[in-house]
Amino acid sequence: MRIGVLTGGGDCPGLNAAIRGVAQRAWALKDEVYGIRGGWTGLMGEGDVYPLVMEDVLGIINLSGTILGTSRTNPAKIEGGFEQALATLARNGMDGLVAIGGDDTLGVSATLFQKGFKVVGVPKTIDNDLALTDFCIGFDTASNIVAEALDRLQGTARSHMRIMVVEVMGREAGWLAIVGGMAGGADHIAIPEVPVHIDELIAHAEQRAKTRRFGVMVIAEGTEVHGLSAPEDDPTLVDQFGHVRLADRGIAQRVADEIERRTGIETRVTVLGHVQRGGTPTVRDRYQSMLVGSAAVDFLHRDLAGNMAAVKGQDIIPVPLSEVAGKNNLVPPELYAMGREFFRTWTWV
Ligand code: F6P
Repeated sequence: MRIGVLTGGGDCPGLNAAIRGVAQRAWALKDEVYGIRGGWTGLMGEGDVYPLVMEDVLGIINLSGTILGTSRTNPAKIEGGFEQALATLARNGMDGLVAIGGDDTLGVSATLFQKGFKVVGVPKTIDNDLALTDFCIGFDTASNIVAEALDRLQGTARSHMRIMVVEVMGREAGWLAIVGGMAGGADHIAIPEVPVHIDELIAHAEQRAKTRRFGVMVIAEGTEVHGLSAPEDDPTLVDQFGHVRLADRGIAQRVADEIERRTGIETRVTVLGHVQRGGTPTVRDRYQSMLVGSAAVDFLHRDLAGNMAAVKGQDIIPVPLSEVAGKNNLVPPELYAMGREFFRTWTWV
């Protein structure tokens, strides 16, 4: 079999381990593996496809990013995009494709499968918001980065008696904020699933200043904060999947400005941004990524194309791409309510 592999959407630690899992399993089964550069871009036009050899995947398990490159190119937004993709795959003699990515990449994969090509998806997103899988490549590392950043910020916040407002990634889902924030001892966490009024954030900052004299508040970039003036629309901030580049909108800065303006409490902002997508992958992101990459190749051999290699407990199971695409795994309200017991420490101080 000749198998293509691509990575789409935002990069993250663990992708290279998954690529290695795909390649090594494929070679063990006497398959050929071709790398597709730059996500779906690599299948457009002439294509950017090349045979992978052992040297390409040696020493990459612990490297962040993706050796294949990635993009947010969406074939659905390109004239004849799917036809171009199918033609490039055919021209290169591909029998199957492993597409590693988040909801956007897996949505394109679902359409490609409907159009008759054998695709298996591998779940990846630091936002952890893919449906029907317990594991998404990159989330474990990113949430560790958030927790570690908070560890560092606690000390300086305490020393200067300031309120730190820390912005983390997460457009629609607050997993990074909740998991990284709780692990890092944030005293308030705001997430996209639960809109919040600026008055609540200000009341919290005031309580912290009165009791502990400092605070570390986490806010996910996609959080709706009522009571603030709306940012101006700028179409240049929108990508091909229609997502606004939220980090450029600066929700943490606007919240911090308002806290300082209305209370006079000294406030500082940290936007973790793409730092959350870099660095050495954790053991879980390395190990599990290799396993899902390897399982994706097995799925192609077992006639399980059209599925994502999902993690359920200890198992890797097939879940139809059509059931994953367009669905979001959000932080459940009960979990957020439970989380509040941990992070709203001012209530007992
Ligand atoms: O999709 C994952 C993600 O990390 C989001 O949390 C974030 O909003 C986005 O990527 C940023 O993407 P880009 O690197 O394209 O600006």
